[in-house]
Amino acid sequence: MAPPFLHLLSAFLAMEPTHCLISLARVCGGGLITEGVQRFIWDNCISKVEKSHVPYSKNFLKKLINEIESAHGDILDELYEQYASYMILLKDDRLVKENSRVLKCISFLFPPGCFGVPSCPKSMQLAVPLHCSLNMLEGDTGCSIWPSSLFLSEFILSHPEIFSNKSCFEVGSGVGLVGICLAHVKASKVILSEGGLSSLANMKLNLELNQLNNRMDDPGTTNQDPNLVKCIFLPWESAEESELQNFMPDIILGADVIYNPLCLPHLIRVLATLLNQTRSSSPLQQDNCVEFSPDSRCIMDARAEGADIHNHDHGSRSTTNADGGGKNSVPVAYIASVIRNIETFNYFLALAEEANLDVKDLTEQCKPFDLLPYMQSYDRSSIRLFTLSYLRK
Ligand SMILES: C[S@@+](CC[C@H](N)C(=O)[O-])C[C@H]1O[C@@H](n2cnc3c(N)ncnc32)[C@H](O)[C@@H]1O
Repeated sequence: MAPPFLHLLSAFLAMEPTHCLISLARVCGGGLITEGVQRFIWDNCISKVEKSHVPYSKNFLKKLINEIESAHGDILDELYEQYASYMILLKDDRLVKENSRVLKCISFLFPPGCFGVPSCPKSMQLAVPLHCSLNMLEGDTGCSIWPSSLFLSEFILSHPEIFSNKSCFEVGSGVGLVGICLAHVKASKVILSEGGLSSLANMKLNLELNQLNNRMDDPGTTNQDPNLVKCIFLPWESAEESELQNFMPDIILGADVIYNPLCLPHLIRVLATLLNQTRSSSPLQQDNCVEFSPDSRCIMDARAEGADIHNHDHGSRSTTNADGGGKNSVPVAYIASVIRNIETFNYFLALAEEANLDVKDLTEQCKPFDLLPYMQSYDRSSIRLFTLSYLRK
């Protein structure tokens, strides 16, 4: 499928704002929503609508018809008829409200250049269906897809070598998108955690939907099962140190978790406990151990210059034992965040310093591929990516 059409379809499936769909439709038609573009919309979008998409499709059709009419174009009969039937179906406004949970599909579109890189996905795209809420607030915070999780997912898919064969633990996982991407790049273990019960239930549903069985009690699954993503209930306030010490992850992740000052001391305690652990790494992990230092160059720069990426340092950390013997792997956290309130963010930094955590801003140094080129509502420029590690004395 040619890029503008693929972008339009991906945007429709991701339920992008309808004005974004209109602008993508115009691109497809070279400035006008031609009959050919309308036919594409009918065949690939509207005629295949899921139940939960009906109010959204109706809004899209309304905007589309207005747009074509104002350009004095002809509207496809099928589109008119469908709009009329939606009007009858959605006469009762309650139907629209009941449908506030929807099924979105986030399609990561890989640019052709990344296929020269070993471990890049074989297919051109990764489509992740997700049950989520259209209401970002009022108790549904963790059932919405926040921009930092899109960014962290792009980062994971752009740098699979950092995460493959690593055990990963996410805090405040929401809909579970980051965990699904971690499983895709073959993390050795993925544990997702949530403090909201409805978000946890929704996340479990999403893992099932993506064939990532999360039932640890299923006799067919083992800890090493690549199709296993475990999700646990973990409110930061009540997380016990002994419980956290059981996990020993190589990598900790968090997307859009720095926003509530009341929760921050608890979040920092959880992160510090998970980060203040050292364990002997296997030879496999030692080979993969790479370091992000202020002057280490980004894998993307190396790719752009056609360099051999395996000669570059990029990724999680390792330390050599004082006796010069084997290496220990030291956990590192990747936290993506939109800084909405600078005071809250500074409070997070102060708490991190108090807890002996070193925070580094990687945003400029390491930009992921733009894997969501069709998502006009996603403003990646507002997102920062940090690493956190425990400062050893
Ligand atoms: C803004 S949402 C981000 C969700 C997801 N990471 C994303 O980026 O799409 C914040 C998430 O942190 C979770 N959260 C907030 N406070 C928490 C707490 N005290 N303990 C555990 N989880 C919490 C929420 O339930 C929610 O899933």
